[in-house]
Amino acid sequence: MEQIVISGTGVFTPEESITNKELVKAYNSYAETYNSNNKVDISRGNKIALELSSEEFIYKASGIKSRYVMDKKGILDPEIMHPILDKRSNDEPSILAEMSVKAAKKAMDSAGKTSNDIDAVITACSNLERAYPAISIEVQQLLGVSGFAFDMNVACSSATFAIQAAADMIRSGSAKTILIVNPEICSGHLDFKDRDCHFIFGDVCTALILESKETAKSNNSFEIVSTKCITQFSNNIRNNFGFLNNVKKSSPLDRDLLFMQEGRKVFKEVVPMVSQLITDHIEKEKIKTADIKRLWLHQANKSMNDFIGKKVLGRAPEDHEQPNILQDYANTSSAGSIIAFSLYSEDMKNDEIGVLCSFGAGYSAGSIILKKTS
Ligand code: COA
Repeated sequence: MEQIVISGTGVFTPEESITNKELVKAYNSYAETYNSNNKVDISRGNKIALELSSEEFIYKASGIKSRYVMDKKGILDPEIMHPILDKRSNDEPSILAEMSVKAAKKAMDSAGKTSNDIDAVITACSNLERAYPAISIEVQQLLGVSGFAFDMNVACSSATFAIQAAADMIRSGSAKTILIVNPEICSGHLDFKDRDCHFIFGDVCTALILESKETAKSNNSFEIVSTKCITQFSNNIRNNFGFLNNVKKSSPLDRDLLFMQEGRKVFKEVVPMVSQLITDHIEKEKIKTADIKRLWLHQANKSMNDFIGKKVLGRAPEDHEQPNILQDYANTSSAGSIIAFSLYSEDMKNDEIGVLCSFGAGYSAGSIILKKTS
């Protein structure tokens, strides 16, 4: 079977970031104003008072210390509580396409490729800016890439599912060199007025180049040894935003049109599902646990990753074996494991093996076994 490699990665990180302290201050100011404005209704039991958020809880429950965002001012304004992004005309690049191009150029540089070498673009992410035309086709045009492009969404697992799709496409001959981009403006689908989840997400864009090992000239290539993707329906992470909202007479401010989750259930159900997926996958490929040098896991919750790492390796992983970027980036949906891979892979030696693994809404989970080749 033809060997396919990931020959380049790129990360576009927004300039602004928000610490837990800043985020909690804004939320608590919003909650105190709400409680004061609704004092009478709250005392009569007609409304429920909002409880305050805490920095200590956020770090202890999630491992997150700060998050990069596309707009800090709007999120931290207690009167607004969401990012304010510019409305662009149809003649200007869309925001997702613009950040995708920035990450893509870094990935192309690291793979030693130009636009002329790429013949397919996949945008794989949780939230697309519009229904159509595909963001991917816009990215293709902005980069001057020939061939074809399409968008796909498997929530937090979008990137790993795209890796599997791209590797299969290269093997079957439908494309030779594929650019995958994962633009995630998670702050746009987050309810910053909801204490249970206001701290969870951040914004970023990652990019990958996949090609045949024969054409790769990068000095940091990883062979895709094997891929395994699984899905199992669950309502525990859900967002009802969609094209039928209008005809169903939803209000744009309806709570269910943003990210919603039963966090504790997700934690309990996804940890065993992912541990089993990785364990079965490496066993099927006859890889010994002792030969796994690195786990680049989805970045949603540090304790979740600690549990999964321990289950897969049979012991607590060392920090360098399972790098977390969650403390700086928070949950960036499909991009999280790719950031960890991009930042913590160059030091690996030839033939060393690692597992890249995403998990999230769907439920969906993707495991990619990688071997350093150069
Ligand atoms: N500040 C202070 N207290 C808070 C709080 C906040 N911001 N948010 C919730 N709490 C309180 C709750 O009200 C609850 O209080 P109670 O015990 O008096 O009822 C307590 O803290 C525990 O809340 P809970 O929601 O059960 O916390 P948790 O320990 O499960 O942590 C998550 C919450 C979201 C961090 C965690 O469940 C998680 O990460 N789950 C996995 C999520 C995931 O991977 N999702 C994928 C998304 S793509």
